[in-house]
Amino acid sequence: MTTAATPLSERSAWKALAQHAEAMKEVHLRTLFAEDPSRGEKFTAEAAGLFLDYSKNRVTGETLKLLVQLAEESGLKTHIEAMFTGEKINTTENRAVLHVALRAPKGESIFVDGVDQVPPVHAVLDKMSDFADRVRSGEWKGYTGKKIKNVVNIGIGGSDLGPVMAYEALKHYSQRDIIFRFVSNVDGTDFAEAVEDLSADETLFLVASKTFTTLETMTNAHSAREWALASLKDDAAIAKHFVAISTNAKEVSKFGIDTANMFEFWDWVGGRYSMDSAIGLSTMVAIGPNAFREMLAGFHAMDVHFRTTPFENNLPALLGLLTVWYTDFFDAQTMAVLPYEQYLKRFPAYLQQLTMESNGKHVTLAGTHVETETGPIYWGEPGTNGQHSFYQLIHQGTRLIPCDFIGFYKTLNPLGRHHDMLMANVFAQAEALAFGKTAEEVKAEGVPEALVPHKVFEGNRPSNILLAEKLTPAVLGSLIALYEHAVFTQGTIWGIDSFDQWGVELGKVLATRILGELEGTGELKHDTSTNRLIEKYRANK
Ligand code: F6P
Repeated sequence: MTTAATPLSERSAWKALAQHAEAMKEVHLRTLFAEDPSRGEKFTAEAAGLFLDYSKNRVTGETLKLLVQLAEESGLKTHIEAMFTGEKINTTENRAVLHVALRAPKGESIFVDGVDQVPPVHAVLDKMSDFADRVRSGEWKGYTGKKIKNVVNIGIGGSDLGPVMAYEALKHYSQRDIIFRFVSNVDGTDFAEAVEDLSADETLFLVASKTFTTLETMTNAHSAREWALASLKDDAAIAKHFVAISTNAKEVSKFGIDTANMFEFWDWVGGRYSMDSAIGLSTMVAIGPNAFREMLAGFHAMDVHFRTTPFENNLPALLGLLTVWYTDFFDAQTMAVLPYEQYLKRFPAYLQQLTMESNGKHVTLAGTHVETETGPIYWGEPGTNGQHSFYQLIHQGTRLIPCDFIGFYKTLNPLGRHHDMLMANVFAQAEALAFGKTAEEVKAEGVPEALVPHKVFEGNRPSNILLAEKLTPAVLGSLIALYEHAVFTQGTIWGIDSFDQWGVELGKVLATRILGELEGTGELKHDTSTNRLIEKYRANK
């Protein structure tokens, strides 16, 4: 029996998959469906409010058996238990990885270094709930006694992408008399436009930063403070208009925010896994504490499913394994995520950090270079907009791009035939990608010979379809947890640390050095290209 300690390419399931893939590359989805009409029922799984149809993938029962075997040989079960029980599986940062504790029900216990982490999670949730209720009801007043009408979240990366995605996703459930804005970019335009039409005396800033040292966030937070003080004219106003969300009480105080107005989280919450921690305060103010807790329940339902369900029926494991299959055996470079739900318009952008900051790694946990391709590029746009933009390439281009379609039985905004039309497109796209259109079929339509090759659709392009009743807070929670654990599954197979992000450091260090140079006149000691660009900027700024 091989184990995760065995290099990936030497695991017996891997070798078998490599052989099997050669045979599968020759097989068309048309043949697979013709040979086994039960595929549409067989290759499905359902959990935590989500139904997954993965039958239009280039897999057979044999493929799935081998992928599950690969998960077993890679120690996925043990690794899941290690995460859920608070082991320090983020080894390069010596940290536990416990976003699952953020949605653990009251009464459960998860220990790190002998301390139960669940009670403080609920204490912070209660503090957030109290605060959110006070802002929503108008009880929390600004410095001049006015009700808060605008909430501006300042953060970047995981301290922005999750909150903005969740706000957009759950807008239907939000309190409409509060305006929500999100400032992330160090480009001053982001801040300037966000506050352009706001009054400081009605505006509350949520400064969200795990470290409270991130350059972009601190720069925007200082600009926000200056902007607020320019009209409120008293440092005492800060306490009414700024709260902090952070793990770093010292830096929060240094900034001038009373730690009584700080919402805490912990080093075991990774930035890209933090939208259900205090980082989600803007979400809670928008939708209210009850709906926020429903979202947490959705996350938790998927967590339980991932931890307890055999891999053959385990949604995140299946999604993760299919990604490994296409990335490593079919040279797929990218994965498209295509939500047919306007409220999920920021979901692909959110997934980009979750997937690519997690699995964009070329070094294994053992410190050696990986043997295979790892994290694919994730991208997407809501349907049907994408269809009129990049779907041409997915249907007839030269690359294999596995797609995840996400759709709902019910819309939150019933309007004539709109929703049926939207969903007709989901099913049509997946069908067209899988089965295509042969030259014979094109000819039979009377198409002139010269045009036939242009009108042929090769098909055999794989996709998953995810369906849910409607977009509720709980469904959003379980959808996010699905991708979190799919990423975990991939990272486990590849043997990488999905929870660090050393790759963002070098650029940060160089930018700090170059900032000094852009603002000074000293000698430049970079390469000739960088020197010349800096000189040009200095001369023209
Ligand atoms: O981009 C690097 C990163 O560390 C992300 O992982 C994180 O989400 C983001 O910066 C923001 O960090 P912080 O919440 O500490 O400001």
